[in-house]
Amino acid sequence: MQPLWKTGAVYQIYPRSFCDSNGDGVGDIPGIISKLDYLADLGVKILWLSPIYKSPNFDMGYDIADYYQINEEYGTMEDFDSLLLEAKKRGLKIVMDLVVNHTSDQHPWFQKALKGEEPYHDYYIFRKGKKKDVPPNNWTSMFTGPAWEYVPERDEWYLHLYDKAQPDLNWHNPKVLEEVENIIRFYMDKGVYGFRCDVINQIYKETLEDGKGIAPSGRGSEHYLMKEGNHQILRKLYDDVFSHYEDHLVVGETINVDIPNGQRFLANNELDMFFSFAHMNVDKALGGLLPGKFKPEKLKDVLYQYQKEIPWNALYFENHDQPRSVPRFGDEGKYRDASAKALATILLTLKGTPFIYQGQELGMLNAPDKDPSTSLDCCAHSIGKLIAKIPMTKKMRFKVLNSFDRDRCRAPMSFDGSENRGFTNADKPWLPHAKDDGKHNVLEETKDPNSVLNFYKKLLKLRQNHDEFTLGEFEPCPTKGALFAYRRYHGMSSVLVLVNLSDKPVKLPDYLSKIGGALLLSEGDIVDRGTLPPYGVRIHQLS
Ligand code: NOJ
Repeated sequence: MQPLWKTGAVYQIYPRSFCDSNGDGVGDIPGIISKLDYLADLGVKILWLSPIYKSPNFDMGYDIADYYQINEEYGTMEDFDSLLLEAKKRGLKIVMDLVVNHTSDQHPWFQKALKGEEPYHDYYIFRKGKKKDVPPNNWTSMFTGPAWEYVPERDEWYLHLYDKAQPDLNWHNPKVLEEVENIIRFYMDKGVYGFRCDVINQIYKETLEDGKGIAPSGRGSEHYLMKEGNHQILRKLYDDVFSHYEDHLVVGETINVDIPNGQRFLANNELDMFFSFAHMNVDKALGGLLPGKFKPEKLKDVLYQYQKEIPWNALYFENHDQPRSVPRFGDEGKYRDASAKALATILLTLKGTPFIYQGQELGMLNAPDKDPSTSLDCCAHSIGKLIAKIPMTKKMRFKVLNSFDRDRCRAPMSFDGSENRGFTNADKPWLPHAKDDGKHNVLEETKDPNSVLNFYKKLLKLRQNHDEFTLGEFEPCPTKGALFAYRRYHGMSSVLVLVNLSDKPVKLPDYLSKIGGALLLSEGDIVDRGTLPPYGVRIHQLS
């Protein structure tokens, strides 16, 4: 029997922005429950919830103050239990976010550690400075700026790879492992299907020596990225906890993961799959510091490399940290729908588990650019301080700062075309709405047989009904430029996927234009068999 995560697709819910049931402008758990029928009908099988635990929301829930409590804004533990129950009735599984590289500085563990109270004294990474006013090493935070904060109470500094409001846990302390195992058991015993593990390849700091180079963010990572101890911890979590639950999912968010470490995570049961960042860097310049130009062939090369070398991929184009994929890899103008469908085809027909970020199934866009100082994203503010030092025009600065602002992709979900998009009854949602034309929402797209939403439904069905997609191998067909062409085969049967990820028609190479076989799905006008129209898609059954 195949695990559900091989056959079923995942849908990511960003709870603050999904559906508000009580009119406070913030999404909540009863809101999610009210949309379960919609999600079941879409055809996804697993729902991953970004953090819903008690949190001061400095980093929107990725700063947890109590792992055993639900954040009041989202509801109560009873609401969460109802969600599990209602999801189960509809054949849906729930995956939670496990954020254990760090906690919030409001977590009682940290508050007690500050006072030097046992056993919390060593739950975090405190060290003496090199000298007065000089931190223990030169590491920089992933959000830029120094990775250490001084605390007079202990006359020591503590490490924070993210914001100073997110102190790093000390994974050299066996008590931390024990605490995390208990948290996992608590939720697995409730019936949770698994976890998406936040920045899980950074948790084990092998040494605290200085890092190399002048990197404004992540300097020192050679001492904590995917170290032997990190692999051992993940394996121990499997042996002690996850292996006791039959079908479950552990997916890691793995910053700058490389292929050998990725292979090891899977081979050793440390993770079922992991989010790689390689394809998210294809449109960046200056080592990721600035937005660059997007070339579809670069995306193709990276995706194909992972298809060939990683036995099972976590497939994604969007999440709560990344800009929307249509304006990024497609076209938000004339070809908005066509490019959303082309991207959907790649996402749902490659080898691995597809992750659909709320609203992606509608072809949602980012929120419009805004005054960067009004952003609620802590990371955007940190990067802003760094960018302030780089000379550029005001206009350019505005553009660059907006490109880093994670608020834009966190805009509320569009359920209908009303002023507040069916997301809330409040006067205003917690974040401004995405750009829109009033047509890209659940209500309108459900009615339109050619909508992006109905295309997602069709594709999800196709994927579910064809073992070639869920269980099959991947074989690329040699092509140039924006043309994606690959075969997925399982046993004797095989399908061919053709996608043109550009706004120009693409001539198919001779060997592809002659291909017969039933057409399982096609998008874009077929002018002649040898040409794929802009953002056109064809899927053929070969045998
Ligand atoms: C990755 C999460 O996806 C992001 O939203 C968060 O800011 C960082 N990890 C820190 O937890």
